[in-house]
Amino acid sequence: MIKPIFITKVMLRNYKSIGYCDVSLGKLTYLVGANGSGKSNFLDALHLVRDALSGSLDNALNERGGLSEVRRRSSGHPTHFGIRLEFSLATTGQPGYYAFTIAALAGGGYEVLTEKCVIQGAGKGTFFQIDRGRLQGSSETVFPAVTADRLALVAASGLTAFRPVFDAFTHMGFYNLNPKLMRELQKPQEGRLLKPVGENIASVIGHLERLAPDRLTLVQQYLQTVAPMVHGVERKQVGPMETLEFRQDMVGAKHPWRFLAQNMSDGTLRALGVLAALFQGNRDYSPTLVGIEESETALHPAASAALREALTRASEETQVIVTSHSPDLLDDLNLSADALLAVVSEGGETRIAPLDPASCDAMRQRLFSAGELLRLNQLAPDPAALAAQQQRQADFFGEIEG
Ligand SMILES: Nc1ncnc2c1ncn2[C@@H]1O[C@H](COP(=O)(O)OP(=O)(O)O)[C@@H](O)[C@H]1O
Ligand SMILES: [Mg+2]
Repeated sequence: MIKPIFITKVMLRNYKSIGYCDVSLGKLTYLVGANGSGKSNFLDALHLVRDALSGSLDNALNERGGLSEVRRRSSGHPTHFGIRLEFSLATTGQPGYYAFTIAALAGGGYEVLTEKCVIQGAGKGTFFQIDRGRLQGSSETVFPAVTADRLALVAASGLTAFRPVFDAFTHMGFYNLNPKLMRELQKPQEGRLLKPVGENIASVIGHLERLAPDRLTLVQQYLQTVAPMVHGVERKQVGPMETLEFRQDMVGAKHPWRFLAQNMSDGTLRALGVLAALFQGNRDYSPTLVGIEESETALHPAASAALREALTRASEETQVIVTSHSPDLLDDLNLSADALLAVVSEGGETRIAPLDPASCDAMRQRLFSAGELLRLNQLAPDPAALAAQQQRQADFFGEIEG
């Protein structure tokens, strides 16, 4: 069965550098724009939802420097930020949305102004709405106690009706791989889900060895196309710790040489991290969405084609979002303009939209690849789409529009 796209639409208000955005996502989205344009901030809004639900809202905000850093700083002094994610549930295909706004309190601290979760279906559907810690309405006959400083979906996940939404959001994975940490000896862990900078990569590879050798084979095959010298990788115990061991060709040697992660290049480690993030799903655990920062960093431009193929292949099973400012990664005439969202900063404010029609045409007619357009500084968001976003400023808690 082909899984539906999990997150179909993202609306953000006053999230870091993003004043307002309202964009649709497909199975694979390249967020493209210059350094500092706001690509990471967009991905971070989704990451915050994951963090706030799997841990606590307080922690998620604190990890980001507190509400004052998360809320957009601008001359208008916005007092609150908002996130609305429209989704489609893999289990039932039901559409729905989850939205909340969070405001600063006068004396410090914050409160959840409104939080609403709606799962559309037969009849009235399933929903709850909470305003400032007070339950306004719910489809359920009982509802757990709620407070204004937490997201109620955490408590509501105890109810079967809301569990699938909670599970889907907490199964999103976000990655900004760090070869330095991937190289260090790692404490053996469960390894079901790759952690954000790859700090448990050895456990994840070990987990795949045991549970999903076919997935590991896939990772190894792509790794070899990205880094042709590398023939394989496995988890290796070192005393009470663990690391990765790579098999690599050596000129004149009869058998491949074995290298520990410590001696592998940044590019190879990062590529392995990206591939593990993309293909880690197995019958035990599957991410609903994988977001990857600058997946091409430290990779040879010639490896871009293999990376693109891996991204496309992975997106058949898991929704994928990647940020990129690399023309090399986008140098492919087959890359559809629909897969791209252009990100720009206008006077410090991030604007995000599909490409303008002229660029789309040039790509459709195969005159230019997205990479060439990026090199020419021609990858701009569609002004008409931006104006439409600005004009609509749709209600964060309103029904899903067709
Ligand atoms: N709370 C905030 N209000 C306004 N701007 C912010 C806020 N937090 C971060 N920024 C701005 O966001 C920009 C960085 O965005 P980022 O998403 O990291 O860019 P990219 O990933 O595209 O390189 C910086 O210019 C920074 O000043
Ligand atoms: Mg970034």
